[in-house]
Amino acid sequence: MKFPVLILILLSTALAMPATESASLVLRADQSGPVIHRNLYGHFAEHLGRCIYGGIWVGPDSPIPNTRGIRNDVIAALRAIKVPVLRWPGGCFADEYHWKDGIGPREKRPSMINTHWGGVVENNHFGTHEFMDLCELIGAEPYICGNVGSGTVQEMMEWVEYLTSDAQSPMANLRRANGRDLPWKVKYFGVGNESWGCGGNMRPEYYADEYRRYATFTKNYPGNQLYRIACGANSDDYNWTEVLMQQVGQRMNGLSLHYYTLPTGDWPKKGAATGFPEAEWFSTLKQTLRMEELLARHIAIMDRHDPAKKVGLIVDEWGTWYDPTPGTNPGFLEQQNSLRDAIVAAINFHLFHRHADRIHMTNIAQTINVLQAMVLTDGPRLVLTPSYHVFEMFTVHHDATALPVTLTTPDYAFGEGKVPAVSASASRDAAGKVHVSLANAHPHAAITVACTVTGHRAAKVTGRVLTAAAMDAHNTFAAPETVKPATFTGATLTGDQLTVTLPAKSVVVLEL
Ligand code: AHR
Repeated sequence: MKFPVLILILLSTALAMPATESASLVLRADQSGPVIHRNLYGHFAEHLGRCIYGGIWVGPDSPIPNTRGIRNDVIAALRAIKVPVLRWPGGCFADEYHWKDGIGPREKRPSMINTHWGGVVENNHFGTHEFMDLCELIGAEPYICGNVGSGTVQEMMEWVEYLTSDAQSPMANLRRANGRDLPWKVKYFGVGNESWGCGGNMRPEYYADEYRRYATFTKNYPGNQLYRIACGANSDDYNWTEVLMQQVGQRMNGLSLHYYTLPTGDWPKKGAATGFPEAEWFSTLKQTLRMEELLARHIAIMDRHDPAKKVGLIVDEWGTWYDPTPGTNPGFLEQQNSLRDAIVAAINFHLFHRHADRIHMTNIAQTINVLQAMVLTDGPRLVLTPSYHVFEMFTVHHDATALPVTLTTPDYAFGEGKVPAVSASASRDAAGKVHVSLANAHPHAAITVACTVTGHRAAKVTGRVLTAAAMDAHNTFAAPETVKPATFTGATLTGDQLTVTLPAKSVVVLEL
């Protein structure tokens, strides 16, 4: 009796473990899509847990090597991925932040309680000047989020004046007294954050009026033109987008969207960052692919009100959100980052590229030590995450022209469900080089992609791959290079035919 049962088990296991599968891709290098603005690779750093304090700011007297208080290792890491734009100071924190508490001599700055994130004392040592210094050091444009929830119109108006006015005016003179003579250039300015939730629990009609009032007083001082971003929808709240487009329209330059990928889709029990079962690898993919529908439906509403596509969609918070690392302050939102996060990042970038004519910016949450981080730190130590490596590999797409791709992919099936196994995107850079990025989300099957390339005669193909043996492979301070890019040898070129064998659970970037 035992023998046939064993055969049955072996047979069903063999059926569940596919060998190499096949996909096909047509890359139209003779056609041009929209430019993939580098800001689609933007970041977000909030006063939350160890993102700013410890992660970025250690203070000028720290034994950790720093430049005016900002960690040198973090500066180098962020420069290497060409962070184009950095959103700050929140998040929920933005709507309780009073910028005047964060200027002047640091020892005289008042403290506050960070009520949203762990109830810890915020000493305001990292404020406007420190943030603008960080942006200059890493070569990023600032994206400042103003306080609508608990701040006044005057306060927001004066922050813009302090930052960008060169007049002999009270705020510009205060900035000069604090050591900065010339005004900064600040383009991106957010008028509140999640005003439907932590930013004030407003209804869209009410927020639309608040936006109009606050935005009126954010002035364009000579030499500085603001790009004003209104608080947008929480994931599938399409009514929010409808109301904002109708009642604010082109008084805003950008409208935001927040969507987080939770493995279970359930906030109280989101799922673990590592040590998860395949069911949660699969459900994470499923959840992250919801972004496809969210983008399509929000953009359809925007298109209806703004067919000329003047207002940008700004996905200024996205990424994975897991249960916090055991033993850490749950309010600090610390989580490990694995190969699964790398696949999530690649899939989302492919979606963002597809809508690059409407999406002006996205900001991964968050840069250091929080949620889907690029970098983890522990005192003087620093480790780069798998997500970091995807951001680095995809820098080839920054400001490149998207090329249309038509992909036919097998599914990755799990239980009753299935998702497309492969996702892909291509672009041509200013030097004429074509780059193709591919992600294989299937955790077991290698997939051979037969690519037809039209309109580009490539002499050779080179590439890099990010993969590892385990679904939750990740980098630690003890083993910082478990997941890192390697030379890819799985692509061959014959005439206009490119054949690429993607390992299971991998991200590949090719140069033609
Ligand atoms: O990124 C963490 C938090 O998520 C942000 O503060 C808030 O805007 C969102 O709910």
